[in-house]
Amino acid sequence: MKQIKSCLSAVVVTACLGTVVLAHGGVKNAAVMARMDAMKSIGDAVKIMGTMNKGTVAFDVETARTAAKTVALHAAQTPLLFQAPETDPKSEALPAIWDRFDDFSAKAQSMEKAANDLSQSLSTPEDLSNGMIQLGATCKACHKEYRK
Ligand code: HEC
Repeated sequence: MKQIKSCLSAVVVTACLGTVVLAHGGVKNAAVMARMDAMKSIGDAVKIMGTMNKGTVAFDVETARTAAKTVALHAAQTPLLFQAPETDPKSEALPAIWDRFDDFSAKAQSMEKAANDLSQSLSTPEDLSNGMIQLGATCKACHKEYRK
């Protein structure tokens, strides 16, 4: 979550992407790579909303809704992508995921619901701001327990 926070606050999107590429470097397990890619896409979509929320780029309702929809689509795939207990030295996934997979899946569904709600109801900058708080809480709830 640290990385996301700095991406949202510092608005050095290129630098953030560079960090993610480095984080991915050397991942050998294709299943781990796939779930990291999905999380990276979620992170990128949240970044788009974040720069808009900060006013760095102008608010555009369609772009914001599309970004929220992108999060929802990857969120829907999250349980399946994490189902097999795959590991890689570079992975930040904690073994607790597979001890409490029902809870992990429920947390992915919370993210999906928050993102879907936002993609459908968002129309003003205030909606974006409120929706990002709710969506961000779902990221945090899962990362706190299941990510190193
Ligand atoms: C259901 C649990 C869960 C939710 C919800 C969740 N994540 Fe993750 N996320 C993970 C796990 C687990 C990892 C570590 C995966 C690994 O390294 O194998 C991760 C990794 C990441 C990464 C690093 C990817 C990389 O390049 O290695 C980013 C970025 C990320 N999440 C962003 C987000 C954002 C933004 C949200 C909310 C909109 C979110 N995540 C919601 C579980 C979750």
